[in-house]
Amino acid sequence: MYKELSPHCANRLTSGGQIVNVSTVSKEGVPDVMTAAWNTPFAADEVLVVLDLPHTTTKNILETGKFVVSIPDETKIREINKVGSRHGAETGDKFAWAGITPVETPRLGIRAMPDALAYIECELTDPEVAAKTGVCIGKAVAVRVKEELWDDGRSSFEEGFRRTLHYVTENTYYVGGRILKVPKNHTTM
Ligand SMILES: Cc1cc2nc3c(=O)[nH]c(=O)nc-3n(C[C@H](O)[C@H](O)[C@H](O)COP(=O)(O)O)c2cc1C
Repeated sequence: MYKELSPHCANRLTSGGQIVNVSTVSKEGVPDVMTAAWNTPFAADEVLVVLDLPHTTTKNILETGKFVVSIPDETKIREINKVGSRHGAETGDKFAWAGITPVETPRLGIRAMPDALAYIECELTDPEVAAKTGVCIGKAVAVRVKEELWDDGRSSFEEGFRRTLHYVTENTYYVGGRILKVPKNHTTM
């Protein structure tokens, strides 16, 4: 038996990726950060975030062509809800407004959320698509991950890494984080 859902529920089934924060800076130098549930890989070295056009983040990305995607763990719910609740255009420096001390990324020098699992510094690849749709595709120019949580052999987070948040709806997330290993020829259902 399957249950019929409204077409507007499609995103509830497909937005299972981890919550991220997107950091930017305005052309005047004001730092901003927001939370984004809608994000996915686009190529091995490209990430895609779906942003509302009126967001300060979107304006900053269109003006500067740069942004940083950082991945918070499950302990950061308060912070991600806070920076995802108001526009930078109203708050000014969102970090100062939220009482969060940011870190500065080494390559692009953009302020980002502290203590993230990983940071992906990006340059916007397609400004026309971004301006028209809010779909911002970023080419990674630098990627850093918490060393103690990374397994080089497997090229993935270690078993037991602190868990990422997966958005359901306001105030509801699910968390996982288990590594499940199956044999290479594991094809039977
Ligand atoms: C859990 C969560 C997930 C969100 N996901 C998205 C998203 O995927 N895309 C988006 O445009 N806004 C999303 N938002 C809303 C923005 O984070 C929010 O509007 C933010 O204040 C925008 O900030 P800015 O105007 O400074 O860029 C989300 C907010 C929360 C709390």
